[in-house]
Amino acid sequence: MENPFDNNTLPDGGSKEEIVGWLRARGEERAWLFAQAARIKREHVGNSVYLRGLVEYSNRCAKNCYYCGIRRSNPRVRRYTMTDAEVIEAARYACRAGYASLVIQGGELSSTRRAREITRLLEKIGAATGNSLGITLSLGEQPRETLRAWKEAGARRYLLRVETSNPALYAKIHPNDARHDFQKRLDTLRHLRELGYQVGTGCMIGLPFQTLDDLAGDLLFFKEIDADMVGMGPYVEHEETPLYRHRELLLPPATRLDLALKMIAILRVLMPDINIVATTAMQALDKIGREKALKAGANIIMPNITPVKYRADYLLYENKPCIDEEAEQCKECLDMRVRLAGDEIRYGEWGDSRHFARRTVEKTGDEHAGNDQKHLILHALNT
Ligand code: 5AD
Ligand code: SF4
Ligand code: FES
Repeated sequence: MENPFDNNTLPDGGSKEEIVGWLRARGEERAWLFAQAARIKREHVGNSVYLRGLVEYSNRCAKNCYYCGIRRSNPRVRRYTMTDAEVIEAARYACRAGYASLVIQGGELSSTRRAREITRLLEKIGAATGNSLGITLSLGEQPRETLRAWKEAGARRYLLRVETSNPALYAKIHPNDARHDFQKRLDTLRHLRELGYQVGTGCMIGLPFQTLDDLAGDLLFFKEIDADMVGMGPYVEHEETPLYRHRELLLPPATRLDLALKMIAILRVLMPDINIVATTAMQALDKIGREKALKAGANIIMPNITPVKYRADYLLYENKPCIDEEAEQCKECLDMRVRLAGDEIRYGEWGDSRHFARRTVEKTGDEHAGNDQKHLILHALNT
């Protein structure tokens, strides 16, 4: 099989048209798709929802993505980087709350200083929590050596959305320079896989200029690179970004959300045992968008545990929910919401991608490799 990382040719194949057909589905056909996704979710990942406490570590970013509110050239953003003590406090909270996993997300800075900061932070978090948290990083494209150092310091998963698998669309929503290079993004995804990370990627749905063909291509891309986790959400406009002037091209919010739900449902059918995130952007378009995402096939939620004082400075898009809610309020709110969607939160379990575990077993024959489903954070409850 051709490796999509080798060059810019993206996978297509006979089923792209079929996927486009499903993205267009209405009425009974649409209902059938969601029923299939629900059945496959039950069979392969059950009704378990895993939480990852999201720490929005820093809004400093060297990039200028045309869609993002914290892009380098937005002068209105008050820039911050959390202190180590603040991150560790958030990590301790994640343990106490039984979240069991932490995502450290931030703008893309690839200086050696930032690399060292993160390595040190990972070591401190490990020490403070007895290595009980499953740690995910989401810090953009980084040199291979940096990614290796972070893995050694305790990170096990990495999220790097491809944003769109169509290089032409990628070029339209990013500045045309070496810092925003599609091939570099693919290379980074390959490095993450080679280094043994659980690899998460994803895309935005309903971007200006985006076609259903592009979206079908995104799903095939996730399958082609054999992603362990996928986070995709609707594009949500932000007034202080260049893409805002194309807002008349956007689908109405309800239609955009529905398209995002169909993307989740089709992906669950295509990749039955991966982790799929019910993203916050879903909730920006619809008060119960995340619950709808769970019903469509998602099984991961990332509650925000960033200190409230920083939340308003990390606005990638408008209408971001939970800006004022303390972590504790979100915890109770989420528990109820997930139950209403018919699922149940598995507190204290890492909830690693089953897909990753299976691939590791196939490769090494080690049945215990990656088997962290039952990892209970007993130690953490004592810290
Ligand atoms: N709408 C939706 N998602 C966005 N992101 C950035 N800006 C927006 C926006 N305006 C997403 C990107 C990025 C992730 C951290 O946030 O997909 O990878
Ligand atoms: Fe920076 Fe990420 Fe926003 Fe792009 S999407 S400007 S890399 S924070
Ligand atoms: Fe934050 Fe409901 S999840 S207030």
